[in-house]
Amino acid sequence: MPTLSLQGRDYFYEDRGEGVPLLLFHGFPFSGESYWPQLDSPPRGVRLLVPDHRGFGKSAPGPGALTMDAMAQDGLALLDALKLQSALVGGVSMGGYVAIALTRLDPGRVRGLLLLDTQSTPDDEAGKARREATALDVEKNGVGALVEGLLPKLMAPGSSPQTRDRVEKMMRAQSPQAVAAASRGMAARLDGKDILSRFSGPCAIVVGAQDAITPVEKAKAMQALVKDSTLDVIEDAGHLSNLERPDELAPIVERLAASLP
Ligand code: MLT
Repeated sequence: MPTLSLQGRDYFYEDRGEGVPLLLFHGFPFSGESYWPQLDSPPRGVRLLVPDHRGFGKSAPGPGALTMDAMAQDGLALLDALKLQSALVGGVSMGGYVAIALTRLDPGRVRGLLLLDTQSTPDDEAGKARREATALDVEKNGVGALVEGLLPKLMAPGSSPQTRDRVEKMMRAQSPQAVAAASRGMAARLDGKDILSRFSGPCAIVVGAQDAITPVEKAKAMQALVKDSTLDVIEDAGHLSNLERPDELAPIVERLAASLP
């Protein structure tokens, strides 16, 4: 796995496939490994760039708060290091929040968006309070309770036990400090609706029909905001549709890449 040094800290990323670059951010509380089917078999015509957010996976923690902007800035630094002026940008769930944050920071570098099982609205007050409670619990007791609470909500009931086991193992391997910091970072995220309504490039929105965390209504609300957008609802998938139905996702990504001028 290649490493970039960002102000002296290691930032790991995968670089697979050939074609239009797609900077793809992972969700919470995962690592870039959560794209294993796509990394094993990249969509045709696409160069996948999949980092581990700072503090997650193999990447070292960074200074300051773990905001969506901080993760987006690391992604921009990766594009700089690879001498890529622009790319498709996307992510699953929290990864989608980061993709929207990057579009706010530097819209000229986003050729198109891939928003997977995510939303553009921020947390309400009750949601922010839940994030803080999660952060405090994880700091005190580790990630166990978070993992046990999240696991049953992540995938559709019929999903493969092997996928479930690998996801659980990946979640349990994440650093409690990073998980707590990202929980607070998500609570502080901005409303992304203005960004999506200004975005003029192509945008592919994908959601599992049984997504219990960012349900189909959230995806439809995003589609209503973006002029040039498509919405694919994946049957028999929950919040991790890229893992549950990778065969369905590949042609959507290929179509998005091929639609670029
Ligand atoms: C994720 O999968 O990244 C999280 O469920 C996002 C969230 O908690 O809002």
